Amino acid sequence: MNKQVLLGVCGSIAAYKAADIARGLMREGLNVRVVMTTHAMQMIAPATFAALTGNPVLIDAFDEPVAGQIAHIQWAQEADLILIAPATAHTLAKLAHGLADDMLTTLALATTAPLYIAPAMNPAMWSHPATQHNVQILTERGAQFIPPAFGIMACGDEGWGKLAEVEAIVQHVAGAVLCPKDLQEVRVLITAGPTYEPIDPVRFVGNRSSGKMGYAIAQAARERGAEVTLISGPVSLPAPAGVEVIFTQTADQMLTAVQSHFEACDVFVAAAAVADYKPAQPLSSKRKRDSKLWALEMVPNPDIVATVAAHKGNRYIVGFAAETDKVVENALHKLKKKGLDLIAANDVSAPGRGFEVDTNQLTLFFANGIARELPLMSKRETAHALWDAILEGRHAK
Ligand code: PMT
Repeated sequence: MNKQVLLGVCGSIAAYKAADIARGLMREGLNVRVVMTTHAMQMIAPATFAALTGNPVLIDAFDEPVAGQIAHIQWAQEADLILIAPATAHTLAKLAHGLADDMLTTLALATTAPLYIAPAMNPAMWSHPATQHNVQILTERGAQFIPPAFGIMACGDEGWGKLAEVEAIVQHVAGAVLCPKDLQEVRVLITAGPTYEPIDPVRFVGNRSSGKMGYAIAQAARERGAEVTLISGPVSLPAPAGVEVIFTQTADQMLTAVQSHFEACDVFVAAAAVADYKPAQPLSSKRKRDSKLWALEMVPNPDIVATVAAHKGNRYIVGFAAETDKVVENALHKLKKKGLDLIAANDVSAPGRGFEVDTNQLTLFFANGIARELPLMSKRETAHALWDAILEGRHAK
């Protein structure tokens, strides 16, 4: 039987996007049942969702589409996941405090299914301490937030409050429902993104890493039930739901953050593109332009993954090798030199893979000599294939 997603739709201007969310979830093979608030009906008609999903749409707590069944219990028990998208400040407040004055909030109280929330509201409402406190209450209770994006609102205000991208919501929720829960009780530490090494207060040495690969690895691990800590360089990606994110700028800061979380992890995945060198003496004030040659003296950064792998104990350590030539040779050298259990060789010179893009193609090399070539696919699919390999590698170790 298809997995059930209960889609809660609230009275935000973004409510019309819930129709595309419903269609996207159905495209992924999920059965979708929609519950709307009365305010949502000001924005989009229940008939739209009924026609799209082939299921009745519930609104009032006493709606009973099937005689003899108590809908708010039946639907609550049959749901594999509840997604509220868009979620308004008012509904967040009700959920945080256990109010149940309509079908959506009643169902949310009556279910044990995981709760995913994609808020959408004016930036001032989103950043209001009351809303943020409610978000904190719900997060501590295990709700997974798909955070709002930055942009211009219907009212003309600019800020954080736009509903996250429809496709991102669909992928997130479909991934969470459909993937195996084979990382439960596994504690995972991941690095992602670039490091920025200061030259002066306004300039830095960095690289093209967007963080997409590392964030996808973190999200996939979370979906599979892991407890995830992500040490991120400077990126402009939303934090994956349910993942603890620690932001760093430089390789030295990233090393410190990794060292303080390494002890508590079972698996460490080093996906960050750490700058190998940093300016020897960063300037304390901005260097002014002149016509002279400017030579920058660089010194090596610490090797983060090699530093912690030297004391790895039973932990499983995974590295990446971003290469433009002699890909296999260089990857195998790094596997050994850095003390890794698995390395993902990433030919970053080929189109559609490596930095910034949404796809990747990796060849995995295990320390026992086995190799596995993954196809070119989305970073999300790549991340899941990497976790499949890590689980096999851990099992065989
Ligand atoms: O972020 P995206 O835009 O999605 O791009 C993804 C990616 C190309 C950055 C990613 O897939 C990738 O290949 N990451 C590793 C990049 C890298 O720094 O490779 P490397 O070959 O220089 O380093 C080898 C390994 O040592 C890596 O695991 C790296 O995290 C680690 N390292 C490197 C240097 C250093 N000082 N400390 C480290 O821990």
